[in-house]
Amino acid sequence: MAVVIDGKEIAGKKREEAAVRAAALRALGIVPCLAVVLVGEDPASVSYVTGKEKALAAAGMESLDIRLPRDTGEKALLARIAALNADPSVHGILVQLPLPPQIREDAVITAIDPAKDVDGFHPVSVGNMVLGRPGFLPCTPHGVLVLLDEMKIPTAGAHAVVLGRSNIVGKPLASLLARREVNATVTVCHTGSGDPGRYTRQADILIAAAGKPGLVTVDMVKEGVVVIDVGVSRVEDCSAKNGYRLKGDVDFERVAEKASYITPVPGGVGPMTIAMLLLNVIAAAEGRAAVEARAAVEARAAAGPGSVHG
Ligand code: GUN
Repeated sequence: MAVVIDGKEIAGKKREEAAVRAAALRALGIVPCLAVVLVGEDPASVSYVTGKEKALAAAGMESLDIRLPRDTGEKALLARIAALNADPSVHGILVQLPLPPQIREDAVITAIDPAKDVDGFHPVSVGNMVLGRPGFLPCTPHGVLVLLDEMKIPTAGAHAVVLGRSNIVGKPLASLLARREVNATVTVCHTGSGDPGRYTRQADILIAAAGKPGLVTVDMVKEGVVVIDVGVSRVEDCSAKNGYRLKGDVDFERVAEKASYITPVPGGVGPMTIAMLLLNVIAAAEGRAAVEARAAVEARAAAGPGSVHG
């Protein structure tokens, strides 16, 4: 029987770290602030955004809640983003995806100032990640790496199989797992791969991010595999209070009997995404504080000796 990885507990430690760093910033008169933009009222997106805002508040950070009607045009949204880019009290900008069909996600992501791109979705952030340069890492893939690290699961030389090639999870995870400090050998499976079991049976580490509930069955994994389930789907459940329950991509009950480690849904990767977001907002605020401090020192130096120090 597998060890069930407690994402809530590990995320709690990271949220604690965010709270300590937020307090240090507040002592300098800086309140870390994330602008959260939601277009429309998709119930899952509303629930995610609410969860993020609650976590920000609990860590002593601020959120600027921007809710726009589902018929908002792309131009209007881009104008809001330009205003948030220019607002010095806003350290990070998150536009909840997916967006309604009249808005191009790509245009919106590219419009966000890379210095405020705490989702790590901007092409500049993606480029920095692939090159191993400093920058914001996307929250869910980063959270997966932190889970593996905290559980002391060896990754060097492991065969990691990623199910799914989304821009948000599959693609960045593949890149991060292949980094020298992680050193996994990576296979990415997608809708064009044919029978996924052919690949998943070879996995030492299996990361399911296909968004297909119950896709990974027990016959698709080998004994001792580490399973990280990123999928979150709402499935009908008459016995549940709200008429649905959350289900991952993995048949948890059966696969847990064969795996060495497994993440549950909910309570696995989900809490990590939020924790990594908080840390990215902190990093954005710290980054801005450092830029401002440098500018102040340079201004004093330019004013020369004898200038008044305030
Ligand atoms: N939609 C699903 N996951 C995410 C995420 O991590 N960030 C944003 N902005 N939208 C999402």
